Amino acid sequence: MRVWAWVAAFCAAAFPAAAKDAARGAQLAAANCVACHGEAGVSRLAGVPSLAGQSAEFVTLQMILFREGLRQVPAMAGAAAGLQDNDIEDLAAFFAALPPGVPEDRGARNAALYAAGQAMSGPRNCGVCHMPDYRGQNQVPRLAGQREDYLVHALLEYRGGLRVGTDTSMSAVMHGVTDADIAALAHYLSQRD
Ligand code: HEC
Ligand code: HEC
Repeated sequence: MRVWAWVAAFCAAAFPAAAKDAARGAQLAAANCVACHGEAGVSRLAGVPSLAGQSAEFVTLQMILFREGLRQVPAMAGAAAGLQDNDIEDLAAFFAALPPGVPEDRGARNAALYAAGQAMSGPRNCGVCHMPDYRGQNQVPRLAGQREDYLVHALLEYRGGLRVGTDTSMSAVMHGVTDADIAALAHYLSQRD
């Protein structure tokens, strides 16, 4: 079974339309997540993605992938282990409701690199799935203002077939994309607000 089908079936069973409690999510996050992901969900640490304003469905699905050991990241394995389904839903509701922000260490815009990334994004339909303003939707993550180093890391993993996601869209998208293309795309997206 494809991973996406598996996760969808899992979610249908595990997540009936129960009320999500963002206030409870805030308490869980304060104790377990914000040391790495930032007090307001905007990360100050290289390699750690911001979660503020991230799609709740994306956060929920990724937490299931981490918890079930399908997306294997040592830093996240401990954080996801032992979370109950309603914990994950409440955490996702909390992070999705936070206003998105850009990291305080974001570098200055390089006009040529930004333009190169923008030019690539159109033909490759990045904004069709991620939305034209890159706020994300459903299982497709928000990218606008994400840390540049994390975007490079994520795109390299997709290209190398190293990241298991909930569908295979990104492996197809990244086919034939060069390191220079990745640098341009990551710069462009990180500089969007
Ligand atoms: C020890 C530091 C650390 C802690 C604590 C931590 N995370 Fe993470 N988290 C990371 C790192 C590093 C990544 C990036 C994984 C990778 O390299 O692909 C990540 C990735 C994620 C992602 C995927 C986001 C994306 O854009 O791909 C989600 C969702 C997430 N964490 C949620 C949480 C939640 C919820 C908690 C608390 C229950 C938490 N994290 C605690 C370090 C941490
Ligand atoms: C067909 C729809 C589709 C297209 C087109 C698409 N994406 Fe994605 N993208 C997704 C989905 C779905 C995910 C989440 C996959 C997963 O579960 O790992 C994703 C994940 C990502 C991530 C990981 C973000 C994070 O926080 O972990 C990055 C970065 C990304 N896409 C960048 C791009 C770029 C750049 C383009 C254009 C070159 C693009 N995407 C085109 C659907 C798409």
